[in-house]
Amino acid sequence: MTTFPANLSVVPRPVRVVPGAGAFVLTETTGLTHPPELAAEAAWLRGALGPATGCLLASGPGIALVLDPAGLPAEGYRLEVTTSAVELRGGSAAGVFAGLQTLRQLLPANVFRRARVGTDRWALPVGVIEDEPAFAWRGVMLDVARHFLPKQDVLRFVDLMAVHRLNVLHLHLTDDQGWRIEVPRWPRLTSVGAWRTGSMRGARQHETFDRRPHGGYYTGEDLREIVAYAADRHITVVPEIDLPGHTQAAVAAYPSLGAVPVEGVRTRWGGVSDGVLAPTEEALGFCRDVLAEVCAIFPSRYVCVGGDEVPTEPWERMGHADPGSLGGWFVGELAVMLAAHGRRLFGWDEVLGGGAAVPSDALIGGWRGEHGTIAAARAGFDVVACPDTSVYFDYRQGEDVDEPIPVGPLLTLADAYAFRPVPAALSAEEGARVLGGQAQIWTEHMDSVRRIDYMAFPRLCAFAEAVWSGPGDFAEFAGRLTSAHLARLDALGVEYRPSEGPHPWQTRPDAPGWPRERADREAELLELTKNIRADI
Ligand code: ACM
Repeated sequence: MTTFPANLSVVPRPVRVVPGAGAFVLTETTGLTHPPELAAEAAWLRGALGPATGCLLASGPGIALVLDPAGLPAEGYRLEVTTSAVELRGGSAAGVFAGLQTLRQLLPANVFRRARVGTDRWALPVGVIEDEPAFAWRGVMLDVARHFLPKQDVLRFVDLMAVHRLNVLHLHLTDDQGWRIEVPRWPRLTSVGAWRTGSMRGARQHETFDRRPHGGYYTGEDLREIVAYAADRHITVVPEIDLPGHTQAAVAAYPSLGAVPVEGVRTRWGGVSDGVLAPTEEALGFCRDVLAEVCAIFPSRYVCVGGDEVPTEPWERMGHADPGSLGGWFVGELAVMLAAHGRRLFGWDEVLGGGAAVPSDALIGGWRGEHGTIAAARAGFDVVACPDTSVYFDYRQGEDVDEPIPVGPLLTLADAYAFRPVPAALSAEEGARVLGGQAQIWTEHMDSVRRIDYMAFPRLCAFAEAVWSGPGDFAEFAGRLTSAHLARLDALGVEYRPSEGPHPWQTRPDAPGWPRERADREAELLELTKNIRADI
């Protein structure tokens, strides 16, 4: 197992590190060269290093950015530091950008601040780092529906993803508890659907509510800004409009879209809402308009249309003859709508079991343990592994009673580090369909960016290493985290969970949780996935 000299403690761990002797010291006269194709990466580097170091990196010798598509894998890079020069070669602009994240981490942690403090010597240790990612899809799903996350916090989150060489931001934009994307043809989605009168406090089993209105939404321009900001950091934003269930906020805004009446935008968590779409021409027209707007804003190849946890009982109550078929029918219709825009469907693993004509180029999000990932890969679909027992960062990260709003089974830093996107049960051919992994940040119990910081970090650092570097030694990772990486998070102002548990102000004695045993959740997942497991 590689051990890193303290000054080469990079997260996620690079594939190969060959340390040398001495350092290249960045000064106000250090220059930067790059081909025209890397102008954006050069601009990013100047913006990232300038404020903290005072080194403006004017054009000239010093750091050289080089494109080398023939010599390196597309997202790979080679960073060579000598006492007199720095050369960063990338297989593509994305590879160069990944290498820039490593270069930045080689500097003292104060480089992550937004202005100059102290008297750091901006030394890059001499050595060679060669690196490439284990997986192409290194995603994070951010639920901005349960709690709205202001735009500037989303942009900050994008920056934190970039630091960890994560490259897909899946934005869960709509759910029962809120609709967060402006759709000009359907204005009540945001005037009515983007806010609720109160929220549950703590786990739903306690049935306690606050009476504090909550809401917010993104305009088209906000979302275009997020998309472009992410693209500048080689991060693709994949939008999700959760259909045809998880739509209570939309039905509250336009009651005629619903299968059955609902009582406003949902204020409670969990359970399954009755607020599903009716199988009508009007509802299909609504979906068509919304997806057209989504495709106009988000250039991503994939658009997620959800398909998860859709109850059939409301359709039964409508008197529909075959309510069990309607979820699949909806998904088939949504796939056709997306294809008309040249986009591919991303659906949660329930879409495999609904009898839907899921197009062969669809991407499946396998979330119900490993079962969804296994079923999707065996059925010949590309799949992103997001097993709840490994990467659901709303789940509690410690056993202690002080853990804030502890829900779900225990999911520690070590568990996140042990995540393997490709289930061991898959053959090599099936496993090749697993594009990567995606951490999931469901925000029922995270009402602010401070709560997200606490739940996401440092587990997201461990996850990033699992999808970029592949299997490693947890003790070595934990040492690197403690000796080097937490100082970077501190400089960035990330309020991560301390390894010994929450600071007093991070506890939530006012909001009780509902912890579960892992074995109980696993048994439940076996039951929930019976139909998709029976098909393979
Ligand atoms: C999900 O957790 N319902 C995808």
